[in-house]
Amino acid sequence: MTAADFRTIWLKPDDASIVQIIDQRLLPHDYVVHDLLTWRDADKAIGEMYVRGAPLIGATAAWGLYLAAVENPSSTFVREAATRLLKSRPTAVNLRWGIERMLAVVGDTGDTGLPEALRDEAQAICDEDIEISRGIGEHGVRLLADIAARKNGVVNVLTHCNAGALATINYGTATAPVYFAQQQGIDVHVWVDETRPRNQGSQLTAWELAASDVPHTLIVDNAGGHLMQHGMVDVVITGTDRTTRCGDVANKIGTYLKALAAFDNGVPFYVALPSTTIDWHSREGIREIPIEEREPEEVSHIYGVHDGEPLRVCTTANDTPVSNYAFDVTPARLVTGLITERGVCDASEDGLLGLFPEMREK
Ligand code: MRU
Repeated sequence: MTAADFRTIWLKPDDASIVQIIDQRLLPHDYVVHDLLTWRDADKAIGEMYVRGAPLIGATAAWGLYLAAVENPSSTFVREAATRLLKSRPTAVNLRWGIERMLAVVGDTGDTGLPEALRDEAQAICDEDIEISRGIGEHGVRLLADIAARKNGVVNVLTHCNAGALATINYGTATAPVYFAQQQGIDVHVWVDETRPRNQGSQLTAWELAASDVPHTLIVDNAGGHLMQHGMVDVVITGTDRTTRCGDVANKIGTYLKALAAFDNGVPFYVALPSTTIDWHSREGIREIPIEEREPEEVSHIYGVHDGEPLRVCTTANDTPVSNYAFDVTPARLVTGLITERGVCDASEDGLLGLFPEMREK
């Protein structure tokens, strides 16, 4: 999984008019590579969660704009596609970041050579994302090494959702310190929250940890508090879809409850984030971060395989009213620290600006 050549999105080697992704809806049962032929395919792949995870959403939108330019190399057409792609998912700020970065290239390039310029930019976004995850891994692993040294035993990490290689281009954010720990010979074990309703933990995180031989155990979302009360979690590390400049963190629904349980039990709660996930324009997460609401069927139905065949079953009465909030906000006061590509800081404006001083005036 952490092999240098692993990527979650790439240009088809023998046909540069096609972008390829892993259809993450089918994991862990099937590994299917899916072709994106147009920007509309990219829009659908984000909205219907063939791809997901904040950094990968941003990268897919970027490649979508490249596909738009291949279809019609006019800046007007690409800008129209950008307006539509911006609406594909609301919470992860990497989407806006990736699109704005591509539109800056459109502004600089005009219509001549637009596909080539956008291809190079989308590729750069992906290459940089790998370096960012590597930086998070290098800084985050020191926290795990400290725990290992203090404890002289296995370091138990709890994570929620999938902030792994599959959510980024490679390495992941929350998982990067774990992969680095494994490479450094630190004994590490991961408690994997199932992460209802879409089960990114059981379907994606468990799959990718297994692919890298990282010891892990799947738990139901409600088990974390119990494990913390019994000293079975040394540290919680999650990802984030949007972090405000004051350190409030939006992440998959249920993250807040993990932070509360960690706070009550004195367990450090870290959030791993690439700087591309910081929304420098927002301060107060609960009030300012848009929380995506998704289809009720994600809650009322469950997907799996039975005798090797895909199966989707309804677990509720037909008329049960359902709401499906996909994210929640953990206030900065519950976050022990933020692990970024430039280092670990307090979850506060001062902490973030200490690492990113160039954002002071933004
Ligand atoms: O709905 P998803 O699967 O896109 O949600 C993903 C998460 O909540 C991740 O934790 C977050 O995007 C961080 S990914 C490095």
